[in-house]
Amino acid sequence: MALLISHSAPTTAYISCSAASRNSSISSPPLLKNLKFPRFWPWQKVKIGPMNVSPMGFGTWAWGNQLLWGYEESMDDELQQIFNLAVESGINLFDTADSYGTGKLNGQSEKLLGKFIRNFQGNKQARDNIVIATKFAAYPWRLTPNQFVAACESSLDRIQIEQIGIGQLHWSTANYAPLQERALWDGLVAMYDKGLVKAVGVSNYGPKQLLKVHEYLKARGVPLCSAQVQFSLLSIGKDQIEIKNICDSLGIRVIAYSPLGLGMLTGKYSANNLPNGPRGLLFRQILPGLEPLLNSLKETAQRRRKTVSQVAINWCISKGTIPIPGVKSMKQAEENLGALGWQLSSDELLQLEYAAAESPRKMVQNIFQTR
Ligand SMILES: NC(=O)c1ccc[n+]([C@@H]2O[C@H](COP(=O)([O-])OP(=O)(O)OC[C@H]3O[C@@H](n4cnc5c(N)ncnc54)[C@H](OP(=O)(O)O)[C@@H]3O)[C@@H](O)[C@H]2O)c1
Repeated sequence: MALLISHSAPTTAYISCSAASRNSSISSPPLLKNLKFPRFWPWQKVKIGPMNVSPMGFGTWAWGNQLLWGYEESMDDELQQIFNLAVESGINLFDTADSYGTGKLNGQSEKLLGKFIRNFQGNKQARDNIVIATKFAAYPWRLTPNQFVAACESSLDRIQIEQIGIGQLHWSTANYAPLQERALWDGLVAMYDKGLVKAVGVSNYGPKQLLKVHEYLKARGVPLCSAQVQFSLLSIGKDQIEIKNICDSLGIRVIAYSPLGLGMLTGKYSANNLPNGPRGLLFRQILPGLEPLLNSLKETAQRRRKTVSQVAINWCISKGTIPIPGVKSMKQAEENLGALGWQLSSDELLQLEYAAAESPRKMVQNIFQTR
């Protein structure tokens, strides 16, 4: 069945600039060979609240997480290079969270981002345009709006910047602690009113809860700029479609997290080649049913002279969302940047979505995802 997601994202038309593609089949004359084309043109920036961001951001959950992602501090030099490459390539949206970083590395992702911004030696304007989107965890001990304001101040301290771009609620407590929910919302209002964040967003909110928080914030004079949800060819379902349609009608941007299905949509994993740790357990259950989708991704990638990851990320962009793929190496960063500057056709989108519908297993939804 075709997936009926409105393509009318709040703004921005994507104009194909295939010259920017690394895998372009057109061979350039010698003089043009060294000419660097931008990954995307300035007018292809996407409006999110009062800001303009790149059509894709970078996610940084892995930057500090040992348990799931095998992070080591020895990776920091390469992560700085990834950050530099991203910013130099026009990427200005970086997603993080105050809960990213395991054990004694608590807050590591935010700290690293702050350090990388300070160490960035490139174009000053590019540095000034960086938008940090962080998320505040609804820990059970954060019960008052002031505690969320304090959480925001701690994030600012870790990142060492004056204002956060997008302050997001990491998840809703509506499913298990409905009384705490009001403190989360009032916390967002307070941090916005104090100017600690330029804009506010939510994450893991389902359609019903999204409408409620939007309405509440609106009445308090605070525009809701973004809704971050798990959104990929592996997690597309009725709720994602409904959320996307609601967002389009209210001028809210959808930020697509885990656009590569935690790595399953890169094509590099199979039942015989699983990642270590908890991801291996999850992939073992899902990958055997993924053949139709992975085959379709591979066929499209070959025809387009792209890679499977680039096609999977481009699908999210073509659906009018801002994907924030996670990256752990320069090679992955280089490759994922090649998801920009071109666009899947509507026929290709349909083929991929048919293949996704034929694949029996989907990603598990976040336990905090509400209706
Ligand atoms: N709001 C929320 O609750 C929530 C939840 C999850 C994520 N997020 C955000 O979304 C971001 C992205 O999601 P995610 O990190 O969960 O998953 P993802 O983007 O679907 O997958 C990222 C992983 O795939 C692998 N990978 C990436 N590019 C690759 C390439 N070109 N070739 C081969 N492998 C590649 C890497 O892991 P390996 O090399 O180890 O395979 C990488 O860490 C996070 O960093 C975070 O900022 C938010």
